[in-house]
Amino acid sequence: MGGIKTLIFLQLIYITTCMEQLDIIYEWNQLDFQFPTPEARQQAIESRSFIPENNIPMGLEIFGDRLFVTVPRWRTGVPASLNYVNLKDNSTKSPKLIPYPSWAAHSAGPDGKPEIVSPFRIRADKCDRLWVLDNGKIGNLENNTTKFLPSILIYDLKTDTLLRKYVFPEDQVKEESGFANIAIEDTDCDKTYAYAGDLGKPAVVVYSWEKNESWRITHHFFHPDPLACDFSVKGHNFSWTDAIFGIGISAPNPDNFSTLYFHPMASYNEFAVSTEYLRNVSVAEANFGAFKLLGSRGPNAQSSASFVDPKTGVLFYSLVNLNAVACWRTTNKEYLMKNQGRIYMDNVKMIYPTDIKVDYDENLWVLSNRMPIWMYGKLDPNDVNFRIFSAPVLKAISHTACDVTPRSDILEKFANKFKNITNKIANKINPNAGVSTSTVSVTSIVLLSSIILFFA
Ligand SMILES: *[C@@H]1O[C@H](CO)[C@@H](O)[C@H](O)[C@H]1NC(C)=O
Ligand SMILES: *[C@@H]1O[C@H](CO)[C@@H](O)[C@H](O)[C@H]1NC(C)=O
Ligand SMILES: *[C@@H]1O[C@H](CO)[C@@H](O)[C@H](O)[C@H]1NC(C)=O
Ligand SMILES: *[C@@H]1O[C@H](CO)[C@@H](O)[C@H](O)[C@H]1NC(C)=O
Ligand SMILES: *[C@@H]1O[C@H](CO)[C@@H](O)[C@H](O)[C@H]1NC(C)=O
Ligand SMILES: *[C@@H]1O[C@H](CO)[C@@H](O)[C@H](O)[C@H]1NC(C)=O
Ligand SMILES: *[C@@H]1O[C@H](CO)[C@@H](O)[C@H](O)[C@H]1NC(C)=O
Ligand SMILES: *[C@@H]1O[C@H](CO)[C@@H](O)[C@H](O)[C@H]1NC(C)=O
Repeated sequence: MGGIKTLIFLQLIYITTCMEQLDIIYEWNQLDFQFPTPEARQQAIESRSFIPENNIPMGLEIFGDRLFVTVPRWRTGVPASLNYVNLKDNSTKSPKLIPYPSWAAHSAGPDGKPEIVSPFRIRADKCDRLWVLDNGKIGNLENNTTKFLPSILIYDLKTDTLLRKYVFPEDQVKEESGFANIAIEDTDCDKTYAYAGDLGKPAVVVYSWEKNESWRITHHFFHPDPLACDFSVKGHNFSWTDAIFGIGISAPNPDNFSTLYFHPMASYNEFAVSTEYLRNVSVAEANFGAFKLLGSRGPNAQSSASFVDPKTGVLFYSLVNLNAVACWRTTNKEYLMKNQGRIYMDNVKMIYPTDIKVDYDENLWVLSNRMPIWMYGKLDPNDVNFRIFSAPVLKAISHTACDVTPRSDILEKFANKFKNITNKIANKINPNAGVSTSTVSVTSIVLLSSIILFFA
């Protein structure tokens, strides 16, 4: 990496400290699975239905005591593509993956198709349902790709049973389609919407739980930027033209519409649209101006996954070229480089941050997996390759540009005090004409407060 561009970018983006604000919870050299017996594991290795080096964790989600991990079937030898580990089991930092909801859901049926084929990212909604976006492809990094239609599987997390399987209609799936990212708008459990990004043929497929129907929305902001297709990760230079990728959904507004924040993988820009315009294809087409460009993260700042924490309104995103995770407050009107905060950056531990979530107890979770090395080179089985990080959201964003409470509170307190004093003085000088707050310039308040803070 290195390079002047990166340096300048970092100086602009990273405001204050060099503290790394996440802890490593799990780490693996290679993934392993909880087979029914040691013999079954040995047999799977011999029959090559389990090829350890072909397994890479891609997505994560947290619900209750379980941490879910997806392992897409990009290459052969993936025994189970959706798994979990028990967060209460602290006996090891490299736990074996337990297939979800069962081993049976991952073994091929008569048509050669398991219940779950190849999911990348998943989402547990607040209504105790796990939404699994299944890409439907087996072995797409090998010569012999098997393609099934993509689908959304929805599991009841209380009973671990399949509630629904919705296969995308053929006319919403194109030859180049690839579905990797999903966001869920669960304001109303009966009228929940799922948004699935098509990174291969730019579009968002919207699914309505109530109608059990989907539709395909297109927009030019979903397309890759031809000037942002160059990537460089740990000495591997490559070109990716992936379209819409990271999608994050905000808390609802008073009319119960959320904002969908999105960016293509091959792009430095962030965009947003109200879900109001995604509910109906003709409404989306008639209002293409409702899709907004927020701004640019700057050179080298391509991002994969992103997630909006509905409580703090902070958008978390990965920076795959910079081995970093960063953030932006959605309440901040300006999407400028200086308003982006650094959460974590490390040229060994954070190589390719691939998924980000905030759980229902306000903890941030990040998965890094060194994917470009796995894809274009070879991972060293004697080195730690996959890591899962976590920290409370408030800790993760503290002292960054995304810090939501302390500083502004303190500033406001001092500003109020200063206003009160000014008012008192003004009232003494001229009791009939109270000083309006506007006569005290915000700058002077901020300046004075900073001086007070500095010496406090
Ligand atoms: C694991 O958790 C238990 C109970 O929460 C605790 O008593 C124990 O010290 C923990 N062990 C390790 C190795 O952290
Ligand atoms: C794909 O096919 C080519 C030529 O037939 C072969 O050399 C290569 O090893 C194959 N790759 C895989 C991953 O099977
Ligand atoms: C290719 O896929 C088909 C169908 O899944 C399978 O029957 C065949 O054995 C595969 N060929 C190779 C070389 O893996
Ligand atoms: C928004 O959704 C909540 C929860 O479903 C509901 O109670 C409320 O009435 C809705 N508000 C509007 C304006 O539709
Ligand atoms: C949803 O629609 C699919 C076909 O589009 C159908 O197979 C399935 O049974 C439907 N599910 C429900 C719960 O209506
Ligand atoms: C890879 O890209 C980096 C940064 O753009 C560049 O400095 C380096 O020379 C490139 N390496 C190769 C082998 O092309
Ligand atoms: C979509 O919007 C159009 C125009 O407002 C309306 O005529 C149509 O009925 C809507 N379709 C659905 C499925 O709601
Ligand atoms: C400023 O004055 C208002 C009422 O005039 C009062 O409620 C507030 O607590 C005061 N603030 C401070 C920081 O003293």
